[in-house]
Amino acid sequence: IGTLAAFAVGGYLLGSIPFGVILTRLGGAGDVRQIGSGNIGATNVLRTGRKDLAFATLILDAGKGAAALLLAKYMMGGVSPSAELAGAIAGGAAFLGHLFPVWLKFKGGKGVATFFGLMLAAAWPLGLVAAATWLLMAAVFRISSLSALAASALTPVYALLPVAAMSLPAPRPILGLSIFTALLIWARHSENIGRILKGAEPRIGAKKA
Ligand code: G3P
Repeated sequence: IGTLAAFAVGGYLLGSIPFGVILTRLGGAGDVRQIGSGNIGATNVLRTGRKDLAFATLILDAGKGAAALLLAKYMMGGVSPSAELAGAIAGGAAFLGHLFPVWLKFKGGKGVATFFGLMLAAAWPLGLVAAATWLLMAAVFRISSLSALAASALTPVYALLPVAAMSLPAPRPILGLSIFTALLIWARHSENIGRILKGAEPRIGAKKA
């Protein structure tokens, strides 16, 4: 239990690094929290007009989730149910760190990039199918939040599918992590859902939210 608690704290701290805020500040693009939706994620960083910073935010927010999960997993030996559990706990904690970072008075992001990093690290075929879902939705509707809502809701379903060649169904801790993160992503997107239903959600690349 002590070890798992340590993984949770370490994961939280890693996840709490607000790359969107740090990169926009360092990159001279102001404070991302003052523009667009006010969110600290890559979608909103893109509204500063800086594609480079948005891309870096996406990679780093995804990477911190992946790093937390993989570090814990390998510190527990890599391949065993307890390593899988440790990875999921550290990853889930990193996700919470991104949503509720102590450094930003607990007002963090919506978790989408971190979710993809977690799924890719937990079971890469699952992460790829999740990412493909986002890309397909984005190609059709051009709305970031809608794509994230669809991808996160479908990922636990994918995790249950019996496709052995893709190492699915996913182990229990990964299924649990996909459900946990999907529920929080949906809860975090309540304003986006309202705008989507009103037809007022901005398209990817538009400057206003
Ligand atoms: O990554 C979060 C995305 O789904 C929505 O971001 O800034 O449009 O609220 P935003």
